Amino acid sequence: MSFPSVRMRRLRRSESLRRLARETRLGRDDLVLPLFAVEGRGVREPVASMPGVERLSADLLGEECKRVADLGIPAVILFGIPAAKDARGSGADDPLGIVQRAVAAAKRAVPELCVITDVCLCEYTDHGHCGVLEGEEVANDPSLERLAATALSHARAGADVVAPSDMMDGRVAAIRRVLDAAGFADVPILAYAAKYASAFYGPFREAAESTPAFGDRRGYQMDPPNRREALREMALDLEEGADVLMVKPALPYLDVLAEARRRFDVPLAAYHVSGEYAMLMAAAARGWLDGPRAMLETLVAIKRAGADFVLTYAAREIAARLTP
Ligand code: PBG
Repeated sequence: MSFPSVRMRRLRRSESLRRLARETRLGRDDLVLPLFAVEGRGVREPVASMPGVERLSADLLGEECKRVADLGIPAVILFGIPAAKDARGSGADDPLGIVQRAVAAAKRAVPELCVITDVCLCEYTDHGHCGVLEGEEVANDPSLERLAATALSHARAGADVVAPSDMMDGRVAAIRRVLDAAGFADVPILAYAAKYASAFYGPFREAAESTPAFGDRRGYQMDPPNRREALREMALDLEEGADVLMVKPALPYLDVLAEARRRFDVPLAAYHVSGEYAMLMAAAARGWLDGPRAMLETLVAIKRAGADFVLTYAAREIAARLTP
């Protein structure tokens, strides 16, 4: 059967027909909003390269979480910017550290909101790398203990999910072991499993003050041209006990996401990262494209490729546009 008996346009003729034939739906349930916590009270600092994104002190972050929950967004992911940094990233697992206090504030403000924490050392080390150094090398095994202690401190502060983003080998197993031993066997691990050494993290590093002082992250984050290796990373993280696998960035790696969807029967997340957000916002600000439509189309593409949910800086604006 083909033309003229087949006419593909028939089901595109009205919005109601298009709604019935629609294969992928983006809903508020699919969104996770990243939030940045800074020291102080009443502090609200816009991030220049990410219009609409602000760094908030814990008190304002709690209020923001109420608004987020009222919009129907199920979860936030928290990043902390500490006042002081050192070589081992001591602030990362400080029980009274910036993220630990932000988690407590968020849970106090909205107990039912799912609070995810990013587990990494790069915001806390004076050299800006994601693990501890031996000479100029990021040392894998010594970093595991620091990362596991960080995840545990987040769980103790009340985090509902911990999300390691460092890309050290064995971090998921190390974190799982420490969480289980301390009575947090029920806290899931969302693994940044396929995290690429990407140019698209630029604006985030301005927001999080986490640009490496020397070198780059190519010695631990993945090489962009590799897909098979990403699937191996994901399989390993699953074996180590990851509950959710994430691909990051999102749009430049939709092929990885689609292949992961075929292979793994676990929830998949994708991170529409700072640079992906900044590109759209910059073009929209110049009137070069319709920002909200382009953002929706992008997030739908990420879902269509296989993501169950998406971390996006546009979560609030998108949630507000989606009907319940
Ligand atoms: C920490 C971390 C980064 C991002 C999330 N967690 C930065 C990096 O790896 O350099 C990037 C998020 C974004 O760009 O939106 N390791």
